[in-house]
Amino acid sequence: MRYLFSILLVPLVFAIFPVKLSADEGMWLPVLISERIDDMKAKGFRLDAEDIYSINQASLKDAVVLFNGGCTGELISNQGLLLTNHHCGYGAIQCHSSVEHDYLKDGFWAMSLDEELPNDGLWVSFLIRMEDVTDAVLQGYDSSMDEARRDSLVRANSAAIEARAMAEGPSYQASVESMYYGNQYFLFVYQKFDDVRLVGAPPSSVGKFGGDTDNWMWPRHTGDFSIFRIYADKDNNPAAYSEDNVPYRPKKFFKISTAGVNEGDFTFVYGFPGSTQEYVHSDAIGYIEEMNPKKIALRDGRLEIMKKYMSADQDVRIRYSSKQANVANAWKKWQGELKGLIKLETRSVKKESEKAFTEWALSGGHDEYAGVIEELSRLYAQVRPYSYAMDYYVESLNGVDAFRFAMNVGRYIGLNGTEGLADYAEAFFKDYYYPIDEEIFIFTADRFMEDVPDEFKPEYLKEEFTRLGSTAAVADSVFAVSIFTDREKTLALAALDSAKAMEAVASDPLYRLADSFYAEYAALSGPAMEINRRIALMNRTYMRGQMEFDSEKAFYPDANLTLRVSYGEVAGFEPSDGIEYLPVSTLEGIIEKDNPDIFDYDIPQKLRDLYAAKDYGRWETEGTVPVCFLATNHTSGGNSGSPVINADGNLVGVNFDRVWEGTMSDLDFDPELCRNISLDIRYVLFIIDKYAGARNLMDEIVFAD
Ligand code: ARG
Ligand code: ASP
Repeated sequence: MRYLFSILLVPLVFAIFPVKLSADEGMWLPVLISERIDDMKAKGFRLDAEDIYSINQASLKDAVVLFNGGCTGELISNQGLLLTNHHCGYGAIQCHSSVEHDYLKDGFWAMSLDEELPNDGLWVSFLIRMEDVTDAVLQGYDSSMDEARRDSLVRANSAAIEARAMAEGPSYQASVESMYYGNQYFLFVYQKFDDVRLVGAPPSSVGKFGGDTDNWMWPRHTGDFSIFRIYADKDNNPAAYSEDNVPYRPKKFFKISTAGVNEGDFTFVYGFPGSTQEYVHSDAIGYIEEMNPKKIALRDGRLEIMKKYMSADQDVRIRYSSKQANVANAWKKWQGELKGLIKLETRSVKKESEKAFTEWALSGGHDEYAGVIEELSRLYAQVRPYSYAMDYYVESLNGVDAFRFAMNVGRYIGLNGTEGLADYAEAFFKDYYYPIDEEIFIFTADRFMEDVPDEFKPEYLKEEFTRLGSTAAVADSVFAVSIFTDREKTLALAALDSAKAMEAVASDPLYRLADSFYAEYAALSGPAMEINRRIALMNRTYMRGQMEFDSEKAFYPDANLTLRVSYGEVAGFEPSDGIEYLPVSTLEGIIEKDNPDIFDYDIPQKLRDLYAAKDYGRWETEGTVPVCFLATNHTSGGNSGSPVINADGNLVGVNFDRVWEGTMSDLDFDPELCRNISLDIRYVLFIIDKYAGARNLMDEIVFAD
């Protein structure tokens, strides 16, 4: 019935308001959400600004965490139970996995508190408060200061502000973040928790279903979730792992709505988007268009090498699964971004508006903006060769594990001597596979030697490659004999006293190569930074100018891994001519894709059985189980794991991805093409309840309806 209703209603609405298209662009600062709340309410939201963010009462922000510095998570019980993505918990799940206990493959479910697994180094933090500190940060600034002096003033003032804030509470952390290219500064005060334990994860055949084949794609059927629990000391304060710790009692947690979502429903994503550049100059877009294909090609090569070895050996597959996923992820995103920029003609649209901007600036009264566009063009041209070379450094030899490891061991010994080095080495070699790394070395070294201009290559590296004649020969006499590609040799190094170890490191051929490589990179970053500083100054002026020029528009600051609100609605889209995507996917699609012969699509037998028996319990909806849905929320990397919240503030989904056709949203958001992908909370519950039989969790979760 509901289905029929929406089909009839939608065209009608469009007929009355032909240009109703809600522009859902925007990642809003929670502390300023009162400026958006009327618009949110007009679109269906039923709570108030104070319910989203408040320092006077518990609010939704208290149920959202920054998860391990790169993802988002949300609290779903009064006992510190936390939901995030499978790909965000991946490192932890993998870390507890071996061929005998393969939690990646088989999943993991703690059926009681004492089965939950501690994770060294895993942390989450809650936002305590945020506040505009622009005046305090710029105290002592006058416009005669150059950028370098301004930078150091900003740093010093920020450090003092942060230090004061950190003293306010236990395990408080604070950071002052620049918004609008330094036109505004906000202080963020967090409380950090270090005892975060693994509670549950579906097998990868659910949690990573579709793998890299489906990554960034719709229709999507990935059960991308994992469950953790935050522990605290007896007083509910953060504490390092201890057996005596107890489940954390959060100020707020999400109730779960099982009512589901329909096309057009209001949704709101609350999380930590990492980085966007919505206001950059057209030449910055031009550079991305030039560089993305090169970066993609470098990753093509690395991925092919990994794939070859991973598909031949189960042990190698486990060891490289996380590394491979990381490399593949940006690789695919860049492809979508490039396609999107071209489709939207972002560069020429920007050029047009830059022209209008300059005309406006010249039209009187706006002199300070008159030369900004031209100056930015000049600076981008100046920095281009450096950026190009540096991008190559990052995407080529820096992708060789042993290369980075050699450097890191050198640094480690410099700082700590050899104490603890054996553990450090063991952790590295646990996931190392020599044949892959050697082949990646040869491939990336070839590209580096060919594509990077000579003046930007390290002298020593050039000499070695010339002396030995070919990259394969370098691999033989450098890679094959190095300490850092060999576990035994590295452990022997760890057994030496620090001075002897340092000597051995310094004469290692791979270390010497890596050392010259990273030293040259650092040397390049000097002049690049100098130019980038001037770009930053120009961008600050340009940003201010854009806000004056377009004074009717509601601006939001670029993402910078601070907490944001994005709101929109459940909606399908048309990625290209002749294709229309529905906004919801279901278990039917999983069964359609199921194929034991294709690794990414081989579902667990138990899921097949549940399907055959139609054993869906209370998660059945219109004869099936909903799995994922699309919406128009403006999200970015870092929003993974974010709660997707309905009009009443209850949890309806977990954000985990975007459609690749819309990944240019980091540079240019298009309401027709940009969609975030969320896991329907009912699929999460179906897996916990029917697949895993984790009654303990079902009893702990609180339902809103
Ligand atoms: N594309 C999503 C994000 O950017 C998910 C990545 C993890 N999944 C994968 N198959 N690599 O993080
Ligand atoms: N998958 C991304 C993440 O891990 C989210 C995105 O880029 O849309 O944060």
